[in-house]
Amino acid sequence: MDAGDWASVMDEVWRSHSRQWALVGPPLRPSPFDVAVVHDVAGGFGRPPRVLLLGVTPEVACLAWPVGTRLRAVDRSVEMIGEVWPRHGLPEGAVAEVGDWEALPMDRGADLVVADGAFICLPWPLGAAGLLARVAGALAPDGRAVLRFFVRPDRSEPIDQVADDLWMGRLAGFNTFKLRLLAAVAGDGPQVRLADVHEAFEQIVPDRAALARRLGWDLAVIGTIDAYRGSEAVYALPTRDEVALAVAVAFRVEAVCVGDYQLAERCPSFVLSPR
Ligand SMILES: C[S@@+](CC[C@H](N)C(=O)[O-])C[C@H]1O[C@@H](n2cnc3c(N)ncnc32)[C@H](O)[C@@H]1O
Repeated sequence: MDAGDWASVMDEVWRSHSRQWALVGPPLRPSPFDVAVVHDVAGGFGRPPRVLLLGVTPEVACLAWPVGTRLRAVDRSVEMIGEVWPRHGLPEGAVAEVGDWEALPMDRGADLVVADGAFICLPWPLGAAGLLARVAGALAPDGRAVLRFFVRPDRSEPIDQVADDLWMGRLAGFNTFKLRLLAAVAGDGPQVRLADVHEAFEQIVPDRAALARRLGWDLAVIGTIDAYRGSEAVYALPTRDEVALAVAVAFRVEAVCVGDYQLAERCPSFVLSPR
């Protein structure tokens, strides 16, 4: 798939997600723990930070920023900006711009760059390496990046194991299941085709209503999996070690923060400073 095809199939996924964003939850959206990591870093500059947000993550956009924070969000999806970018609770003057992260100015004009799950959208490792270099170039010398990654386990787990845990009620929610399933279908590679994840889901869950009844889950939330149906889009799920190697090219790792929610170890926030 060339870069243009990659972008258009990926944009279609985010168009679908924009229509159902309220049904998506942690760990695919940041938990209060993850938001607190960003909050603490933002408060550590001793000045109101200039913040660049990759995407329109509402939990991050609306956190209790230091007074005077200048927040700019960049997202390629008009639909995500229209549906998901909050209308209230933002710091004064916050803007969301339609734009490609490939065109981020490397002008050292940001104190803080935040990305929640953004690297799942990019080809691994080359697309990720390109974005990491641009994030480093966008940061002031004493700047920080807080990047939450979705990672797969070092050893892949069988899809049957995920299915068992699902039907036995061991999973915290449908979004937790989705992340487990994405990684199980990815197996030992860093990328997973969404159509394959949907097919695996249909095998595991032939009767959604039965699953909803058994676990007390909302059918509409289960239905969010249909954004993956037949999609040629590919998500990237490196291991945590692969992430550590990739970020080391342009950054020093200040901290890796892991929450206490189920599967938090697969959603580490890397706090980084540019080399
Ligand atoms: C930030 S990521 C992950 C979602 C995240 N966990 C959240 O809670 O918001 C999703 C966003 O990235 C955007 N995106 C993906 N690739 C992009 C690119 N190359 N340039 C700009 N936006 C991009 C998509 O349009 C989508 O809105």
